[in-house]
Amino acid sequence: MKLNDPQLLKQACYVAGNWVTAIDDACSSVTNPSTGELIATVPALGKQETSSAIHAADKAQGDWAARTAKERATVLRRWYELIVENTEDLATILTSEQGKPLAEAKGEITYAASFVEWYAEEAKRAYGELIPSHKPDARILVSKQPIGVVGAITPWNFPAAMITRKCGPAFAAGCAVVLKPAPDTPLTALALAELAGRAGIPAGLFSVITGDAVAIGGALTESPTVKKISFTGSTGVGKLLMSQSADTVKKLALELGGNAPFIVCDDADLDKAIDGVMIAKFRNAGQTCICANRIYVHNSIYDEFAAKLVDRVKALKVADGFEPGANLGPLINAAAVEKVQAHVDDAQAKGAKLAYGEPQPEGTHFFPPQVLTEMDDTMRIATEETFGPVAALFRFSDDADVIRRANHTSSGLAAYAYTQSLSRAFKFSEALEYGMVGINEGLISTEAAPFGGVKESGLGREGARQGMEDFLETKYTLMGGL
Ligand code: SIN
Repeated sequence: MKLNDPQLLKQACYVAGNWVTAIDDACSSVTNPSTGELIATVPALGKQETSSAIHAADKAQGDWAARTAKERATVLRRWYELIVENTEDLATILTSEQGKPLAEAKGEITYAASFVEWYAEEAKRAYGELIPSHKPDARILVSKQPIGVVGAITPWNFPAAMITRKCGPAFAAGCAVVLKPAPDTPLTALALAELAGRAGIPAGLFSVITGDAVAIGGALTESPTVKKISFTGSTGVGKLLMSQSADTVKKLALELGGNAPFIVCDDADLDKAIDGVMIAKFRNAGQTCICANRIYVHNSIYDEFAAKLVDRVKALKVADGFEPGANLGPLINAAAVEKVQAHVDDAQAKGAKLAYGEPQPEGTHFFPPQVLTEMDDTMRIATEETFGPVAALFRFSDDADVIRRANHTSSGLAAYAYTQSLSRAFKFSEALEYGMVGINEGLISTEAAPFGGVKESGLGREGARQGMEDFLETKYTLMGGL
């Protein structure tokens, strides 16, 4: 891997301000999903090192919280600038371990940096309230205080942005973070930790631990010092963390799986809807929690929409992320390929037609984009998240019916609807049981909006003012005797 600053490629963990390896030198491999090549090894740490990191976080947090908001903002601003200055290297590391095309990886670094910048500004706005009280000689004072030490567990699909979306507001609020990054993509996390140290994030305030997920997750959830778990990943693991956190009654922020409906009405601007579906479906090779999983197209425009979509999908280039012009990199691993293929096979066995798609090249993690038509609600894609580049087109003819079908899932993360009618737009926005709705928009992610789901898609919000609120406790003081 060629980097301008080779110091950003770390093969050690960042614990209490020191770069450490395992006592017995145990480590795990990080491989490039495009080539299968070994890129690096990272320490296989466990419970003991996680406990040390929690202890250091606890020690560092009080001083950090006692600094003025402006001082914390200045350090965050410096971290933001360092991330931006090192975009090229961070993107190179990210593409090497995750596979997404380099241009998309650079886009992710910009997206990741935006959370740090936004929360550097928001640090100064943790406002309280003074409420007229029920007694003439008293006032109700409501203030905001940092929740304390946070355990963060992040996924492989956005190895940079999911870290800054948690750490930006946490540090702005005055919290400390012990982070366990995904085992497939720890190198981006470690590079971000190096930059955090250079920016002046104090020793211990931010630790990054790689290794045994069960041991690290267990240490984070069982510790009474850790006051909050912030997790992005599968619904199954989210439920497990929730049950493990019950004993110590931790606050939870969970950003879990989705199964997004994408509804195209008969009055939609078709070209805009195609643009929207291309990004909502194929961004990160279909590996985002807010990817369009079920594309419902009105009967009267179904065939035209399918033909236009096939034309656009045919132009996508599937290639190694470093190849110029690549639109789709590999999926993360063999299990991901197997799952996406199983969804396609299931749909075809139940009558779906493959309108476009090349066979999956065996022995690789590449999955060429596919368009399936004549989907129905008995197929796995109708109820399970595919997490791959398969555009599955369902027919509908009635708004009430498509809303009912779109809501018929335990997930409730993101939904999309395309229509030129204002009243229909409001109807979809209000009736879709999702935390986020894109109306005539296929890309809804931004640091300025609250990201999160309802139902089994999770708890809490990340981004925007709400994202910092999640790292703050509300304290009520009755100021009497006035
Ligand atoms: C996710 O897939 O979990 C995050 C997607 C995004 O932030 O856009």
